[in-house]
Order: sequence, then C-alpha cells, then structure tokens
Amino acid sequence: MTRVCFVCLGNICRSPTAEGVMRHLLEELGRTDVEVDSAGTSAYHTGEPPDRRSTEAAAAHGVRLQGRSRPVVEADFDRFDVLVAMDHANRRALLDLAPTDEARQKVRLLRSYDPESPSEAEVPDPYYEDGFDDVFQICRRGCEGLLASIDAGRG
Ligand code: 4NP
Repeated sequence: MTRVCFVCLGNICRSPTAEGVMRHLLEELGRTDVEVDSAGTSAYHTGEPPDRRSTEAAAAHGVRLQGRSRPVVEADFDRFDVLVAMDHANRRALLDLAPTDEARQKVRLLRSYDPESPSEAEVPDPYYEDGFDDVFQICRRGCEGLLASIDAGRG
C-alpha cells in the first residue's frame, strides 16, 4: 500500500482536485493499492467542502471531489509515504513542519511528476485568479506521472 497526501494552502481547490483525480484514476484501473487524502497548510477553511468552482471543473471531466478541508499535521508524516505540495510555499511549509530528515524526504512537488512540466513548476493558485480548468488538467498530468512513479517503485 502506498499512501499519498496532496497539500495546498486552503485544501478547498488544488489538493482536493488532485485527490479526486487520483481517486478517479485508481477506480478506473480497479486499483486498491494506493490510498489518497489531502490537507492544507492553513486552517482558513477547516471543515469546508471543496470550492464550488473546483467541483464544477472536475465534474465537467467526470471527476467527483469529496472530503472536508483540514490542516496538515506533523502526524501526517507517519501516516503517508509521500506528501505532494502544489507550490513552493506549500513545500516550504511542509519542510518546516517535517520532524525528521526522513519526513522531509517525503515532500515532493506535484508537477515534478509531469515530464512535460519545467522543473520546479507550480500548480497556480486559482482562488483569486480563476483558471480552474487549467488546474484540473495540470493535476491530471501530475497524478498520471505520480502513479507511473509509484509503479516504478520511486513513489
Ligand atoms: P487552494 O486555494 O490552496 O488551492 O485550496 C486557496 C483557497 C483559499 C485561499 C487561498 C488559496 N484563501 O486565501 O483563503
């Protein structure tokens, strides 16, 4: 079993989108060997469902978003094998929260799994900017790459 937690700032736009895309890919393949969740580096939206704009963009591609926003916590480094940040600020926050070197090594950028993305590319924050369909497509490419990476034993 590989356990993956996607992490953004609010846990209502980008990380629930990545979580929904990954769940959808796994369901399509009939796979039960990867568990997914998501969390935020802030508690601004704790308890809220995914943003309606993200839910609608995902639904247009047949993907259902679920879950409620929660803040990432130190114990997530024990629960998950990989913590996938959407942007550099999320990655920085995760690296600051990680209690050990081993924990820090679990932190990745989502777009690092997309071979078409420039290195260090981020998933843009759509909350004030729009671009929800772009975020969906970026998450899909990242999740496809992440799954290939898990299958190659690289996590
Ligand atoms: P997310 O988007 O990090 O992709 O969930 C955001 C959601 C809320 C805020 C910022 C980004 N906010 O500032 O409240």
